[in-house]
Amino acid sequence: MKILIIGANGQLGKDMVTACKAANHDTVGVDLPQIDITDGNQTSRFISSVKPDTIINCAAFTAVDRCESDRAKAFAANRDGVAHLAEAAATCGAALAHISTDYVFDGTKREPYVETDLPNPRSVYGESKLAGEQVLAKILPRHYIFRIAWLYGLQGANFVKTIRTIALQKAHNGESLRVVDDQVGTPTYTREVCAQILAVLSQNTFGLFHCTAEGACSWYAFARHIIESYRIAVDLQPCTTVEFPRPAPRPANSVLENARLKKEGLNRMVEWRQAFAAFLEEERQPSGE
Ligand SMILES: NC(=O)c1ccc[n+]([C@@H]2O[C@H](COP(=O)([O-])OP(=O)(O)OC[C@H]3O[C@@H](n4cnc5c(N)ncnc54)[C@H](OP(=O)(O)O)[C@@H]3O)[C@@H](O)[C@H]2O)c1
Repeated sequence: MKILIIGANGQLGKDMVTACKAANHDTVGVDLPQIDITDGNQTSRFISSVKPDTIINCAAFTAVDRCESDRAKAFAANRDGVAHLAEAAATCGAALAHISTDYVFDGTKREPYVETDLPNPRSVYGESKLAGEQVLAKILPRHYIFRIAWLYGLQGANFVKTIRTIALQKAHNGESLRVVDDQVGTPTYTREVCAQILAVLSQNTFGLFHCTAEGACSWYAFARHIIESYRIAVDLQPCTTVEFPRPAPRPANSVLENARLKKEGLNRMVEWRQAFAAFLEEERQPSGE
């Protein structure tokens, strides 16, 4: 397959390029400023020059708190950008795989969310990502939407790197580290997501897929697992969301069930601690960052 990856310099995009090349796909990766998906004409020109079989969109405005104060930018990238990609894909006969988020849900459900649950985003980021899903489904029948969550990997900034850095500082200064314990979700490793997406693309099974690791934990439990894995002797304390206010509201429960992947016999996502062990192993390799 000729695969075009948009957002190829991002946390997921970089690993997606590597995964596609490793699977011997004819792979083209692109990001700002070569392509700006908020610009419909430029996007259309770029895609018709590449003529991909499949586009994987890893590009988005992902700064969840900044979306609250810049609604226009959030919708320009996360809704209109997806519409431009879908229109360009339709013109050149390509399929489009798009990445979405657990934050499309309000977090009030007690059980894990399945694909048939009604989204009800609480943040501008979640609203704009849901709008992106909706325009894609409307414009292009040959689409895939993968809702992922709590992403970490070797590339870019993420919770693992942030906690490791802050924990080392706090340990050095003899201070405690407080992390919210009343938001539950599933840490999900970029490389697992890439492998899962490629497995689905090889089947031509279109539509919506929840795509996270198995199991769940709170941010506090994830932080504890991180500091223990790196053997950082910091005093880690749980706190509540109310004690740690952020501009964008987060869902209390954003655990996703990979119901569709399981139904199709395609689920290859492993338990989150097992995936984290694989991440640590990759990080120790000379090529890891
Ligand atoms: N990170 C998470 O925990 C998480 C959770 C659930 C879902 N997701 C979804 O997963 C996907 C990948 O996330 P990520 O963490 O890899 O994000 P990321 O590291 O922020 O990467 C996004 C990439 O898209 C680029 N981009 C932004 N606006 C663009 C535009 N208008 N045109 C072209 N490229 C543009 C960014 O460039 P600049 O850096 O130059 O802006 C960046 O290289 C996103 O769809 C995100 O919504 C992420």
